[in-house]
This record gives sequence, C-alpha cells and structure tokens, in this order.
Amino acid sequence: MESWIRCWECGLEVDDPYADSCPSCGGLLTLETDLEQLKSLHPYDLRRRPIGVWRYSKFLPVSEEKAVTLKEGGTPLYDCRCLAGIVGLKRILVKYEGANPTGSFKDRGMTVGVTRAIEIGAKVVGCASTGNTSASLAAYAAKAGLDCAVILPAGNVAAGKLAQAVFFGAKVISIEGNFDDALRIVRQLAADGHLYLLNSINPYRPEGQKTVAFEIMDQLDYRMPDRIFLPVGNAGNIWSVYKAFQELISIGWIERMPKLVGVQAHGSRPIVKAFAQGRTDFEPVEKPETVATAIRIGNPVSGRKALKAIYDSGGRALDVTDGEILDAQRILGRAEGVGVEPASAASIAGVMKMSQMGELSKDERVVCICTGNVLKDPDVVMRSFGKVEKVRAEVDAVRKLITG
Ligand code: F0G
Repeated sequence: MESWIRCWECGLEVDDPYADSCPSCGGLLTLETDLEQLKSLHPYDLRRRPIGVWRYSKFLPVSEEKAVTLKEGGTPLYDCRCLAGIVGLKRILVKYEGANPTGSFKDRGMTVGVTRAIEIGAKVVGCASTGNTSASLAAYAAKAGLDCAVILPAGNVAAGKLAQAVFFGAKVISIEGNFDDALRIVRQLAADGHLYLLNSINPYRPEGQKTVAFEIMDQLDYRMPDRIFLPVGNAGNIWSVYKAFQELISIGWIERMPKLVGVQAHGSRPIVKAFAQGRTDFEPVEKPETVATAIRIGNPVSGRKALKAIYDSGGRALDVTDGEILDAQRILGRAEGVGVEPASAASIAGVMKMSQMGELSKDERVVCICTGNVLKDPDVVMRSFGKVEKVRAEVDAVRKLITG
C-alpha cells in the first residue's frame, strides 16, 4: 500500500528513511497508509489467508514480496473462565503473544521493520532492549542475513532473552546503565549512520504491532470488547493498538474503539503519574525498578503517544506492585495453564486491581494482551514459585513426597 512517514507533532512529511524523529521539530514520527481500497471490502474478505500478521498486509507499509517472516502472529485468544471467576467477571480473554516465533509480541513489529530494512538496503540493524526486542531482532536479522547489534542494560535482562540474542548471532553489548541509557546510545549510533534503528520509535515497528488488534477483532467476529489491558514500557504497543482501531474506524469496519488500559509497574510509572495529573506529557522516572524487567523503563520514548491513546479511547493508566504482578502471573499459570513473563502478567494484575477497586462491571468483555512467554524469565519462576524436591533414587523416598 502507498504510505508515507509524517511527523506526529508538526505534520511534516519526512523523506529520510533513516530518520527516527522529525528533522524540523524533533517530534515523534508516524506512518500514514492509503487505506481507501479497504473501504469496499468486508473484514471477512481477508479470511482467505491464514490468521497472522500478513493476513493484514493491506494495512502494512511494506511490500509482502520481500517479507522477512517467521510466520508471526495468529496467536491464541484464550477464554479464561476460571480466571474470570477468580476476578469476579463474566469473561476475560487472554491474547497470548507468548506463542509468537521468538516468544513475544515483538515479532509482529519486527517482521515489518526488518522487511523495511531490506527495502531500503540497510546492512546493519540494531536496537536497545530490555530483552524481547533484542531476541526478536536477532532472529529476524538472522533470517534476513543482516548484521545485528543489541545494547542491553547489564544485569537486568532475563536469561531466556539474553540467550536468544546470543544464539541468533547478534553482537550483544551490555552497558552499565539502564534501558533509557541504552536507547540514547543506540539512537546516536543510528544518527551517525552505523546502523538502522529498530526500536519502536521507528514508525515501521508499530505498523506490524497493529495486527494484534486486528486479530483480536477477527477472533471475536468483530464484536467489540469493552476494554483492552496491556503492559506499558516504552509505550510503542499501546500506541500501535490505538492506531489499529483508529484505522478500522476510518474505513468503516467498526464505529468505536475499546477503552485502552495501560498498566505499569509501580516502580516505573511515568505514564500513570502523568495520567493522574491529566497531563499530555510526562516526567521521566530517574531510577525505574521492577521485577518485570521488560517494562523497567523510566523515559518511554512513545509516552506522549501512549497518553493520547489512553485519553482518546476513554481508558486509563494504572500501576500495580511487583507483588501483584507475581500473584497474577501465578494465578494465570495455575488456573489456566497459560505461562507468561512478569511484564505480561501486569495486564492481568491490572484487571484484578480495577475489579477490586469496583471500577469494572461484571458483564464487561475484557481482553488482556499477554506479551511474552514464561520461558523468557526462568529465574523469576524459580525464585518466586515453589521448589524442586531432591531425594534418593528410591521408590519409597519418592512415594513419601507424593503422598505427603
Ligand atoms: N511486555 C513485554 C514482555 C515487553 O518485552 C515489553 C517491552 C512490553 C510489554 C512493553 O511494550 O515497550 O511497547 O510499551 N519490551 C521492550 C524490549 C522495551 O526492549 O523488549 P512497550
């Protein structure tokens, strides 16, 4: 589809394919795509293709011919009856993004972002990451035959994610600083021409990430959920989901959008603080802390876009404690057999909290986007959720443990 990059702040059309901000005002960039021909289609017309990111290629700003794909998307939407009972709602649906090829929602954005890298002839791609972006970029760069460098905050990337980045052959660089420092550094390297930046500040990334919203609508046969809960870190994903709903409204496939609830960890909640004050911009948090290392971010690059998404959809921002995150992670696992990493469990913790606060009606149809797989962070699991029993290799000893 024909598309162009535009400054989200001042509206300038931007020609430089490597720009990660507006050359005139420094603002965030966004993509506009000509969706005119979709107006004559019915949503079900797209169903001739299997569900997944590329079912929605007409909404994407890259040509599918050269797509770098690992068959991302098409993730399950679980109807979590048991969890709903525990929370006191009729229905909670969990969009399980842990089922993506590298185990997180990042693959949706990366298939489009790396395809774009190929289109513009980039040779080296790079990102800063709390872990999942680097795991995903490393895999897609491998598939595309590109060199890849990832910059990570030392000591704060979960073991599974680090292992993936190493395994797929990226140059893995750990800095003595946090994610916000890593992003500052990699943006400078991109500006100096050393690499093509594939953090979600790159406007092509959110385009792929829009498809999670398209899939949710498809899986619900276009019956609108009342609210969507999702974790917020660097804030690209909530913006992507909002943009998807805006586009569906613009082509007349839906009339309104669900309320978007952005959930942050208490120790890194710049968006929650801004929302509480009714602001459209935010103060960075200097030293973000949380067990959910994926969203341990104090200066979310798309924070202003996140606030717009929240206000425009009639949603809200909400923070949860690390204890609430771990409880939600355990409950989802033990009640539903769905394994997510701590950041993803923030969305479940958010529903539990809003329900306890009496702010959800029992009949609401709630969707939680659970962004990453439990295997990403085995250390949190082993630290927080029970132990492994070790005994002599004898039937009696084992029986004693089983029968208590
Ligand atoms: N959930 C998980 C599992 C994540 O890895 C991230 C972000 C988020 C939620 C938040 O999404 O940034 O779009 O608001 N992880 C990034 C990374 C920052 O580097 O992997 P967001």
